[in-house]
Amino acid sequence: AADFGSDYRREESIASVGGKHALFNAIQVLVDHGDEVILPVPYWVSFKDIVRYAGGNCVLLETDEQDGFRVTAEMIERLVTPRTKLIILNSPSNPSGAVMSPEDLTSVVRLAAQRGIWIISDECYVYLNYAGKNFSVGSLREYRDRMVVVGSLSKTYAMTGWRLGYALAPAQIVGAMQKLQSQSTSNPTSIIQKAAVAALNGPQQCVESMRLEYIQLRDHVVKGLRAISGVKCTLPEGAFYAYPNISAFLGRGSIKTASDLAGNLLRQGHVATVPGEGFGTREHIRVSYATSIAELDRGLERMRSFLTAL
Ligand SMILES: Cc1ncc(COP(=O)(O)O)c(C=O)c1O
Repeated sequence: AADFGSDYRREESIASVGGKHALFNAIQVLVDHGDEVILPVPYWVSFKDIVRYAGGNCVLLETDEQDGFRVTAEMIERLVTPRTKLIILNSPSNPSGAVMSPEDLTSVVRLAAQRGIWIISDECYVYLNYAGKNFSVGSLREYRDRMVVVGSLSKTYAMTGWRLGYALAPAQIVGAMQKLQSQSTSNPTSIIQKAAVAALNGPQQCVESMRLEYIQLRDHVVKGLRAISGVKCTLPEGAFYAYPNISAFLGRGSIKTASDLAGNLLRQGHVATVPGEGFGTREHIRVSYATSIAELDRGLERMRSFLTAL
């Protein structure tokens, strides 16, 4: 958070077993039965189930692919009701790679503060932003009393399996998360906490090198996908996923849904993608490009021959 000019104190921060654990705990603490949670579509798969587990109801905010899946305060405002407890933001987004502008993020946070609504800002990909200047809502100090910022070392330092994430929030929320966490995992292992401190305090050049490499991979995969006749793909501006629209192939042969397409692509084409239904859209599949150019080329070629034969 210090990278973004914020100054959270120790009692306003908590380390958890991955960003997912921090999100899970924050949502359990904030959401009660019957509360409404505004969730932009496409959403990361776990949000919906975590909200349900807490007894909350997700109110889905449909976005426009033509507009880069943009989320604005005006769009959110239309969905606010007296039951709205929380808005979940995730920029850069998994699965779409969409990045909210600092202006849009600030307007949403301001709206939430005016209406007494909580914000969870999932910033697990904040250092994998290819669009512009990195921005964290944690820097908006005047709105911090209604905000939980979630981060992770999984993506920034490619230590996904090491499981280290964190949340920054008002002390009273962190206290409640601590109480919940102390009855489940207690804490991430001390070894990994030490490794995380080393990652955060060490030279940061690796983060920028990785970001530059991801830009190349992103450009490569998007170009390859767009070259397949029938595939449309918005340019992801962050994270490491492309979210191509495959609606042109629905209805061909036995392929009725994105799940059918992803399943057949896996079984026949030997390419693993995730169907859009899990992220709340029916016309997409998610492709991860966190691999080498050579592997991407192998995958793209298999996708091309599978899709063109449909
Ligand atoms: C949007 C988003 N949030 C949170 C996470 C959780 O990551 P981790 O638990 O590895 O920190 C992920 C992982 O894929 C993600 O894509």
